[in-house]
Amino acid sequence: MENEMKIAFFDAKSYDKPSFEKYGKQNGITFKFFETKLNEDTAELTCGFDGVCVFVNDTVNAAVIDHLAEHGIRLLALRCAGFNNVDLRHAAQRGVRVVRVPAYSPYAVAEHAIAMLLTSIRRIHKAYIRTRDFNFSLNNMTGFDLHGKTVGVIGTGKIGRVFIDICRGFGMKVLAYDKYPAEDAGITYVTPERLFAESDIISLHCPLTEETYHMINSETIAMMKKGVAIINTSRGALIDAEALLEGIKSRKVGAACLDVYEEESEFFFEDYSGHIVEDDTLARLISMPNVIVTSHQAFLTEEALDNIAETTVRNISTFMETNACENELSYH
Ligand code: NAI
Repeated sequence: MENEMKIAFFDAKSYDKPSFEKYGKQNGITFKFFETKLNEDTAELTCGFDGVCVFVNDTVNAAVIDHLAEHGIRLLALRCAGFNNVDLRHAAQRGVRVVRVPAYSPYAVAEHAIAMLLTSIRRIHKAYIRTRDFNFSLNNMTGFDLHGKTVGVIGTGKIGRVFIDICRGFGMKVLAYDKYPAEDAGITYVTPERLFAESDIISLHCPLTEETYHMINSETIAMMKKGVAIINTSRGALIDAEALLEGIKSRKVGAACLDVYEEESEFFFEDYSGHIVEDDTLARLISMPNVIVTSHQAFLTEEALDNIAETTVRNISTFMETNACENELSYH
């Protein structure tokens, strides 16, 4: 095809390729899949491409953006919703336009949050291992009912709202905090302090910003109920992991369900079995019986992968044809 566009695709996994190849082929876009992440050491690989496609743990800081601009790359296509890994200001200064996939399946993430919660509080992770070993003892397996419990939801956007609907289905009372509350949603908004004090379960569904960085820290954990379950499927740095670990050790935090971790970029999505993991905080968290860690997996459903590829390809072709795109991120 004439005018075929070439896109450098970083941090490629086997599950990314089929859908991107399918939609790329239909739209005259060839993806070159690099398994490596984009960072200052790998930015040279972008030479000769029309655009770059990245995911959550690629580094798109000022130095990387300088490389992209020097290689004449005008478009950075994020195949995710969050964009905390991109220096948007510098991208704007260097004329690198940034598009993203604002929503691909809020259900995928909200359902994963619930899956982690149920796994943790009903000890499914323990039961799975026990019964495989024909150990049918129920000692230390007592959980608690979700019905009647109070869940505090921070961030009531697309994912937060789906999560709230599911919680209501379980008969839970929902309290929420959002910097920009939705007026029409019939949601009970409270201050963060009240949410921390009254919730049996707290689930984070807000973006990572300067304001939300370490919003779960030793001070806010001190405000919480003893035995609180904390779920984070948003971004790792919303939680001060060391403070969380202390909260677990002191029995203040009863369960932690973590799909994201502040220092995840070194580990998540990779096979580290057989290696010595140097991150003591992560290793200690994983060693806890009441902590479930998944590897930034909440988005990973067939529906989400298909939507991600379709929207990313549409973003790229719309941008290349019209020099504009509804899913463009602007610095302001
Ligand atoms: P959204 O943009 O629809 O909703 C975010 C909500 O957070 C908005 O209502 C916004 O007003 C609120 N918010 C903004 N600043 C806040 C603050 N300082 N305090 C409290 N609330 C604040 O985003 P969506 O699609 O619901 O995604 C939420 C987060 O989930 C994303 O930012 C992303 O980090 C994460 N995510 C994680 C995935 C995973 O695989 N684990 C996949 C997709 C998203």
